[in-house]
Amino acid sequence: MPEETIAQGLKKQGVSRRDFLKLSGLLAAAMGLNITPPVKASGLPSKLARGYQANRAVLSALESKPRLPVIWLEFQDCAGCSEAITRSDSPTLVNLVLNTLTIEYHETLSAAAGFQIEQAKQDAMKKYAGQYILVVEGSIPLDNNGVYCTVGGKTALSLLQEAAAGAAAIIATGNCASFGGLPKANPNPTGAKGVWQIITDKPVVNIPGCPAIPEATTGTIAHFALFGALPALDGLHRPMPFYGNTVHDRCLRRPFYEAGKFAMSFDDEGAKQGWCLYKLGCKGPTTYNACASIKWDEGLSFPVQSGHPCLGCSEPDFWDGGGFYQGQSAPLERPAVTAVGAAVAVGAAIGIGTTLVNQAKKKVKEGAK
Ligand code: SF4
Ligand code: F3S
Repeated sequence: MPEETIAQGLKKQGVSRRDFLKLSGLLAAAMGLNITPPVKASGLPSKLARGYQANRAVLSALESKPRLPVIWLEFQDCAGCSEAITRSDSPTLVNLVLNTLTIEYHETLSAAAGFQIEQAKQDAMKKYAGQYILVVEGSIPLDNNGVYCTVGGKTALSLLQEAAAGAAAIIATGNCASFGGLPKANPNPTGAKGVWQIITDKPVVNIPGCPAIPEATTGTIAHFALFGALPALDGLHRPMPFYGNTVHDRCLRRPFYEAGKFAMSFDDEGAKQGWCLYKLGCKGPTTYNACASIKWDEGLSFPVQSGHPCLGCSEPDFWDGGGFYQGQSAPLERPAVTAVGAAVAVGAAIGIGTTLVNQAKKKVKEGAK
């Protein structure tokens, strides 16, 4: 492992103790940490004490943990998840790159190219064998011996297997790496698959979305960097802190849904009044993702807030499931709780985490003023 601890790296870069404490609070919130504290001992109300304990846990991890090596592979993708992550807010990619990670290989972001970067990857896999996090973006084609996607003369399949062998954990970011995504859409001409359908002997976390919410990817990596363990996952291997609720559960149009007020076209009076988009095909009630709570672009908005129905981009068969813009004739009572949904519901308290993310963002911004 790189010998420098995260805290040492921060200090070297001139980060003050005050900002260091802010970062620990931000990370605790981003990861949805909900640690049960010894309330009696702290003498604080339980909610405050939980936040305090979570901050303490992150603080102590930041001070003692070495920076985490990351290898990031891209296969059948549009690089949208990489693009999104460069705009992540809490923690920012810059924070992660500089303070908690060392990204050893990233085809889009690495300065080196060609033989030089491929050699750097080989060196990193050797040096950090068994220790690095492997992030995969894009699906893996299996048909015709995987000829549809090659990098440096090797198929995506062989590159994935090679890098997975020495990884401590694997994070599949985006719907393509998680469930096959757009490349897998019927007729799936390349035989595209998600990582967890191929690698079964290593922990694989899915962060689906099109693209994945950056904070979900960075927060999951940060959790592993700090605690050496992955957050709790649902039945589709999605981290509960970010996929514990449906978009519908936290949607700002929900009161209109409950009142039976639905936009019937994109330019009718209901749409102008911000009414529910369910009858325009919104899949929010059956889509688990944190869009409605974390949002995008530093908490600015998310598709439904901007007037577009949720398309269900964090669910399997996102494209082939279809039904885009095809509304139901009658309001949904309440979606049946699936096996996965039931498991997720148990961790609904984790939604506190996403609320905390926004609170933390606000506090950091206020502190920066
Ligand atoms: Fe929001 Fe869609 Fe649910 Fe309506 S159906 S409340 S627009 S998530
Ligand atoms: Fe995707 Fe629906 Fe969110 S389309 S970005 S899960 S609002």
